[in-house]
Amino acid sequence: MNLSGPLYFLLLTLTFFSCSKNAPSVCPADGVLYQQAAFPIGAAVNPIRLNHVSEYNRIAKGQFNSWTTENIMKPENMHPEPDVYNWIEADALADSCRQYGIRLHGHTLLWHQALPDWIVNGRGTRAEWRQILKDHVRTIVGHFKGRVASWDVVNEAFNEDGTLRNSIWRQLIGDDYIELAFAYAREADPNVLLFYNDYNLESNPQKRAAVHDLLNRLRSRGIQVDGIGLQMHVRLHEPNASEMTACFSEFAADHYKIHLSELDISVNPLSKVISDKASLFTEQAQYLEQIIRCYQQVPAALQYGITFWGVSDADSWIPAFYNREDYPLLYDQQYVPKPAYCLLKKIL
Ligand code: G3I
Repeated sequence: MNLSGPLYFLLLTLTFFSCSKNAPSVCPADGVLYQQAAFPIGAAVNPIRLNHVSEYNRIAKGQFNSWTTENIMKPENMHPEPDVYNWIEADALADSCRQYGIRLHGHTLLWHQALPDWIVNGRGTRAEWRQILKDHVRTIVGHFKGRVASWDVVNEAFNEDGTLRNSIWRQLIGDDYIELAFAYAREADPNVLLFYNDYNLESNPQKRAAVHDLLNRLRSRGIQVDGIGLQMHVRLHEPNASEMTACFSEFAADHYKIHLSELDISVNPLSKVISDKASLFTEQAQYLEQIIRCYQQVPAALQYGITFWGVSDADSWIPAFYNREDYPLLYDQQYVPKPAYCLLKKIL
């Protein structure tokens, strides 16, 4: 059979697409992501994996120049009893950061989750809990002074309707626990950057307005919040570019630094059986490009960086938490770069 011209091209095209269907396209894992970027590129890290998974260790140190502590600085781990603080793992992480020139972002001083029992079951007067909050924040921020560059001081304090979440801290102290936390953190380290961190602020203008209003109110009372952490646990194509741009530009207009603080892109939010990973990975890369393009519009001085919530799909919280198959990160479960990684290397 003599195949020539358009017929040959058609066959070639069909072959290419059928072959490529389940074979994720990868690019060489050479180069260094953060060196290509105009802003820090981070990952949430976990000391157990750092110490025991060599590929994880190599990528975390080689590709990212900002680390966020995924879990070890949460109160249940860092402050498990009223008079007990666990410093060992976080100190070791801070030493690694210093050794490898990696920025360390502390996560998180106050949250309604990941609390030790002594706080969850807290009883006592407002004055007593104000003192406990003060000790908690000042002890931890003071301990890492000069080693942690920035903190998520308060995490997820708002409900979706823009009201304050009735966390245990609010129940014990009152609405001003947020203001107190920022004030105590600032006292403990005048040079550290302080962030408020939350989710869905791009897609929910009502919640965003409430958060923005709080930050401005604190500022007007002399309490400087340096930036906003937008978690960005997103799913394919949501939020869209105009929602992201509106959100980024509203906070930028008031000069808050913007940290995309926990980025991951779910490719399977509806818990389906996945038959065509390759095309989902391509879509994921395309959506990541949209996110990056929107973030590149933020003024450079306000780009605190983009932090991925984990290194590889093997490390993500999503599959276990939602009990589903999902692949939200830059590397696959074998630490092979995915199309999203290849895309980043092209456009950063
Ligand atoms: O370390 C224990 C282990 O000893 C035990 O055997 C095992 C059994 O459940 O649990 C292990 O702890 C788990 C820990 O992750 C480490 O894997 C906790 O149960 C689990 O609750 C914890 O989940 C973390 C979650 O926050 C709650 O703290 C996720 O790793 C972490 O990715 C997730 O991160 C949050 C951010 O802090 C805030 N924004 C949302 C984001 C995703 O939920």
